[in-house]
Amino acid sequence: MNDRNRPRRSNLAVPGSSVKMLEKAKGLAADQVFMDLEDAVAPMAKADARKNIVAALNEGGYENKIRAVRVNDWTTEWTFTDVLEIVGGAGANLDCIMLPKVQTAEQIVALDLLLTQLEKSNGFEVGRIGIEAQIENAMGLINVDAIAAASPRVESIIFGPADFMASINMKSLVVGEQPPGYDTGDAYHYILMRILMAARAFDKHAIDGPYLAIKDLEGYRRVAGRSAALGFDGKWVLHPDQIAAANEIFSPRQEDYDEAEMILDAYDYATSSAGGAKGAVMLGDSMIDEASRKMALVVAAKGRAAGMNRTTTFTPPTPTTPKAGA
Ligand code: GLV
Ligand code: MG
Repeated sequence: MNDRNRPRRSNLAVPGSSVKMLEKAKGLAADQVFMDLEDAVAPMAKADARKNIVAALNEGGYENKIRAVRVNDWTTEWTFTDVLEIVGGAGANLDCIMLPKVQTAEQIVALDLLLTQLEKSNGFEVGRIGIEAQIENAMGLINVDAIAAASPRVESIIFGPADFMASINMKSLVVGEQPPGYDTGDAYHYILMRILMAARAFDKHAIDGPYLAIKDLEGYRRVAGRSAALGFDGKWVLHPDQIAAANEIFSPRQEDYDEAEMILDAYDYATSSAGGAKGAVMLGDSMIDEASRKMALVVAAKGRAAGMNRTTTFTPPTPTTPKAGA
């Protein structure tokens, strides 16, 4: 069975039509690579792109990354053949199918059933291939809870800002930036939070989509920083330069990771009999309790998954022995 919780800080998009980019992706430090058959591939190039992807997956070189393929959405004529050819041709070397423009739970169930058929007929472990669901329009967003809950195969819920902006008639052509005229708050806040709630309620990853101005690394960092601050697990990267930024922004800062591990150790000690079986204690200038432990666990888990090392250690206070005769 897949580890559905492997880090997905950076999700590298690679057009399936480019053999060169499929090759280049192998050496890049992204947590996930997704090979595209959808919007980055022209209709006439889709059949060849399927073949390129099957060949690339079988050739290997992506084993330290999550390997996903984005098929075309269920309203097109390509979805069935996409899944058939990719899973039939390279199912053993594939971790997830990404389904774009998901609108209903039934669309996830349909993909789940098709995957089960293909796993059975090819002799693969049933249920191993995961699903990543892209939310890209209003219908998808209002059904996002049911979409997240539709199958145990669902690993992540992904915001697709470009299609989403188009689908709700947002007055902007710049993905990720605030629409001109909207001079208060963040126009994406509701959408991001809605996706995050569904992901957290059903224990899925929440992933932010692309930032298209690939030369503007500062802009990427700003937009990624917002979804990371809310609690998202990662973001798409369209260019190798965005990878290091995503890996950094979706990992805890070193001082936060150290602090989280410290809280866990200190609270563990405080609640033990050696520490006096206390439920609330001081750590430095702050009080910590069970809720602090839960918050620390989130940060520590992300840091551990990212392979971080702590730079501090917790030393329990030396017990004071009462002096004889005192
Ligand atoms: C990604 O697919 C997007 O539409 O933003
Ligand atoms: Mg899209």
